[in-house]
Amino acid sequence: MPPAAGVRERILVTGATGAVGSELVERLRERGAQIKAGTRRPDRARARFGSGVEVVELDYDATETWDAAVQWADRVFLVPPPFDPTSDERLVPFLDWAVQSGSRHMVLLSAMGAEARDRLALRRIEQRIEGTGVGWTFLRPNIYMQNFARGFLARSIRDHGTFRLPADGARVSFVDGCDVAAVAAATLSSDDHFGRAYTLTGPEALSHEQVAGLIGAALGRDVRYEPGTEEELRAQLRPEHWPEDQAETFAGLMASIRGGERSRVSSDLADVLGRDPTTFERFVADARQAWVRRGS
Ligand SMILES: NC(=O)c1ccc[n+]([C@@H]2O[C@H](COP(=O)([O-])OP(=O)(O)OC[C@H]3O[C@@H](n4cnc5c(N)ncnc54)[C@H](OP(=O)(O)O)[C@@H]3O)[C@@H](O)[C@H]2O)c1
Repeated sequence: MPPAAGVRERILVTGATGAVGSELVERLRERGAQIKAGTRRPDRARARFGSGVEVVELDYDATETWDAAVQWADRVFLVPPPFDPTSDERLVPFLDWAVQSGSRHMVLLSAMGAEARDRLALRRIEQRIEGTGVGWTFLRPNIYMQNFARGFLARSIRDHGTFRLPADGARVSFVDGCDVAAVAAATLSSDDHFGRAYTLTGPEALSHEQVAGLIGAALGRDVRYEPGTEEELRAQLRPEHWPEDQAETFAGLMASIRGGERSRVSSDLADVLGRDPTTFERFVADARQAWVRRGS
């Protein structure tokens, strides 16, 4: 049953300290939505959102945390743990619980191309949601621009003016995670997006060399991209304590980039938001602090 006119629905945002989840909480707050921010790290979420957002502890692996989050929620934004090749085994029991508890709309953060890969955990989650009978919306973003501004890539650019990935010269239509959050906010605010799947990309496909050039131009110093091998990628991830199966998922993603599967530009984002997606140049201008050494 759709809610009566004027009734504010209650939205649970999972992964609330993640790249998209944290932005989504801010956007829903600006819209005056009733939200709970679900996270394994409530202190971190409270520090970010302040007192205006209700934060609730939520861990897919800890069933005792589920009720406080889902028994309240009409709509759920679902963030699967990243790079986990078995994320469906962790997420499906949780989403089933949410549906049984009365949630009537699931917006899933999936990934570009999931529809063509039945063996992908994200596709299995999509299929499960389709089978529950609730309203659903799938967001299928390409790789986020934000990945260059966090983790080992950001550190490598900041400290050495270079980054290495096994992408060869392939192009990628990187998307701004803030745009993904904006689409999520729009789709969580009405029933108009039920049964829809959106492929979310940036406005252009760029090579990693072009990415390095744009970051370097914003910083006013030389930044270089070095094409590497998958073995070199695994070696980079080891000191970062990436579990082996997640490193393999990362390597698989790079293979899909080299195969050209990540270069398509989609109009879905502009269709939902009524504006063009953010350019890499714009993103870099806003994110430049991520690559600036402290004290310089
Ligand atoms: N990164 C990309 O470029 C990209 C592109 C396309 C699609 N995606 C997809 O988007 C999804 C999320 O990736 P992301 O890069 O956005 O990750 P992210 O920024 O690291 O956010 C993921 C969030 O998942 C939550 N999480 C992890 N394990 C959890 C658990 N056991 N219980 C509850 N929450 C848990 C964490 O939230 P808390 O720490 O707040 O608990 C974490 O912040 C993945 O499925 C990925 O395939 C990512």
